[in-house]
Amino acid sequence: MPKLLARKGAGEKITMLTAYDFPTAQLVDEAGIDIVFVGDSLGREELGYADTIEVTMEDMLHHCRAASRGTRSSLLLVDMPFLSYQISPEEAVRNAGRLLQEGHANAVKLEGGTSIAPTIRRIVDAGIPVMGHIGFQPQSVNLTGIAKQGKDEESAARVLEDALAVEEAGAFAVVLELVPFDLAARITEALKIPTIGIAAGPHCDGQVLVISDLIGLRPNARVLKHVKQYAHIGEDIERALRAFKDDVVAGRYPE
Ligand code: KIV
Repeated sequence: MPKLLARKGAGEKITMLTAYDFPTAQLVDEAGIDIVFVGDSLGREELGYADTIEVTMEDMLHHCRAASRGTRSSLLLVDMPFLSYQISPEEAVRNAGRLLQEGHANAVKLEGGTSIAPTIRRIVDAGIPVMGHIGFQPQSVNLTGIAKQGKDEESAARVLEDALAVEEAGAFAVVLELVPFDLAARITEALKIPTIGIAAGPHCDGQVLVISDLIGLRPNARVLKHVKQYAHIGEDIERALRAFKDDVVAGRYPE
């Protein structure tokens, strides 16, 4: 964690990508990405759930363990799933501890600002590093819908207050999701800890993306506005599978 803080001080950007399994974590780690992140986007991207609400502690533990086997140099961060930290600080500490002890993560991430700050404090006091997540919070999608947060002055002030509360509670960094670029810049300026942006513009201290978006794993999936696709792996896989089928049917494989 001190290394990440120093990166902010030195003005060096931080990189973070999701990985939910052993080979992907290995690729992300070997590419020199700072943070291998077992996000609860696991539900949608890997398990075929409708959203992150269905994701359980057992899902996260299983995939975090797999990702840990592929992670050597990067920090291994894992999301705390829905209802694993909201019920009581005691349950939150216990579940965060399980993610380190049984999942082999180095740190946990959880969503929320002022209201969850006392829970962040309790987890950090137990010796567990926490990354916050404010702005749009996917686990509250049923309350807010998918909507940019902090668009007017009043709600921008609330997002800033959330950021300060998360820092004050001891988080080592905070994700800013789907907030106006100028608000992300203001928060980045106001905080000592690094901000990691997603759909929050270029002024954050680092950037996070969902890996399947970045590599174009699902050919028919909608490409969100903030995503830059660096590859079209899904199309390559489809081509390879069809070629295998054609070869077998035509007797070209095995040769
Ligand atoms: O689960 C996830 O992938 C996330 C990112 C959107 C930051 O929380």
